[in-house]
Formats: sequence, C-alpha cells, structure tokens
Amino acid sequence: MTNATLIDGKAIAAELSETIKATTAAMLAEQGVKPGLAVVIVGEDPASQVYVRNKKRTADACGFHSVQHSLEAGTSQDNVMQLIDELNRDPAIHGILVQLPLPKHLDEQRITQSIAPEKDVDGFHFLNIGKLTAGQTDDAFVPCTPAGCMLMIERQLGDDLSGKNAVIIGRSNIVGKPMASLLLKANATVTICHSRTQDLPAVARTADILVAAVGRPNMVKGDWVKPGAVVIDVGINRIEVEIDGEKKSRLTGDVDFSEASEVASAITPVPGGVGPMTIVMLMANTLESARRAT
Ligand code: GUN
Repeated sequence: MTNATLIDGKAIAAELSETIKATTAAMLAEQGVKPGLAVVIVGEDPASQVYVRNKKRTADACGFHSVQHSLEAGTSQDNVMQLIDELNRDPAIHGILVQLPLPKHLDEQRITQSIAPEKDVDGFHFLNIGKLTAGQTDDAFVPCTPAGCMLMIERQLGDDLSGKNAVIIGRSNIVGKPMASLLLKANATVTICHSRTQDLPAVARTADILVAAVGRPNMVKGDWVKPGAVVIDVGINRIEVEIDGEKKSRLTGDVDFSEASEVASAITPVPGGVGPMTIVMLMANTLESARRAT
C-alpha cells in the first residue's frame, strides 16, 4: 500500500497539450502562423531515437509544423553547424532542438551555443541560462525537464515555497542547475547534491521537496525521504528484470518507488511522471517562441 499521492504527469501533460492545441489552432486562424519545431538527431542512439519520435509525434498532435533532421553518425561539425544556420534563418521554424548526447567527434557546446537564443526551446544557450539564473524568466526559455518538474511541484505546494527545503540530487546543466534556479525563484531554500556530497541520505532527509536526477536506478531509498516530502523522480533507467524466468527490459527511476511512496506525501511515477511533462514543456516553449515572433 502506498500512502503518497501519485503525481500523474501523463494526465497533467495531456491537459496542457489540449490547451496548447487550442491556442495553436487560434493562432493559425487569426494570424496564419503555425508554430514550427525542428528536431535534429545525429546517429543511432536507441534511447535518443525514442525521445525524438515522441517529440515529433506530440508536435504533430499539437498541430505544429514539425520537421525532423536525422543525420548520419559520422556527420561533420561543419555540416551540423550549416544545418543550424539554415534553421536559424528559416522563418517557419520557431524552435530548434539538437538531441543530446551527440557523437564524440562533435563539439556539443559549440553546437548548442550556435542555436539562435530566440529559437532555443531547450534553454541551453548561455543567454537563456543567464536570464534564468538572474531570475528573469519572462523572456527566457527554461529547460523543459526542470520546467515540467516545477509545474508538478506547484500543483502540490503552490507557487510560493517560502520556508521549504528543496534538495536536488544531480548537478547537470540540463536538470540540476536550472532546477535550483527555479526553486530559488519560488523562495525555496535549495541544496544541490552530487557524487562528492558527504552523507547524501542525511542531506536528502532534510528535504521537503526532493528531486532526483542522477541516472542511477532505485538509488533513493525510503529512509532517504523525510515523511511528507514531495518526491520528483527525473531518472529514466532501463533495467533488466526477470519475470517468470524470462528476462525483460523495464524502465525505472532514480527513486525506489515502493519504499519512497510509503513515506512521501506525493511522488511521481516512472514512467508517466516527469517524462511526459518534459515533452509538453517543449511544445509550450515552441508555441511561446512563435507568439514572440508574431
Ligand atoms: N537529451 C536528454 N534530455 C534532453 C533534452 O532535454 N534536450 C535535448 N536536446 N537532449 C536531451
């Protein structure tokens, strides 16, 4: 028996995508503009292929102009940069996303920084990172995963987190750091933990809001969770399990769900928690970019 409320990311994302769909239809009818999203993928990474397919499918369902550029694993830096340059100048494209990770021979930093900041719907450009860090989120793009996490946290606790301790496990540029900026802006007291943190379980236990984004299956145990905490599990880990003597592949988060859900007041499942929210926030950013350009 779980005591915690299940934070149904899939349902919240479906609700949001209905609003996005309606706004998109109105924009097309009134202004003749369709939000345009270009997704670039280089190589054959199977997880990336799944993510990109989901992004394209959702963009199509929202009524967007959606294009996918699938480049061979050996594509040169110059060719990737040339494609981004074309997309930067294409008025039908409002959002550009280069799926990460990129093959080793490509300079990830130079590529993400070459995307025009006003089309950077991933929020990875230094200008957008700077604005978010400075608390100026009204004209910045916020990275999709932390933006989605924040919406779920607000649904549980409201938008003022004064007096709450938030602990983030993971210091990545995609999740941990932007998540900290968003929580700070909402007045939480924020701690970022990582692989060099001493006594991680003890720090985690201080959290009223615990965000796990490390990529280690089931790492966060029940006794890491403060009773009544809101737990957001960003991990998407593929593990092998044996069911009736048969090996099967299954998705699991960074949080030991069966243990943590006995202690938390609310918790996101994997799958069906953060994942669908990330995709819908990408759509929200693309729609917002089209609105700003029109
Ligand atoms: N790879 C894993 N997460 C992300 C993301 O949010 N954006 C991009 N572009 N690549 C990713």
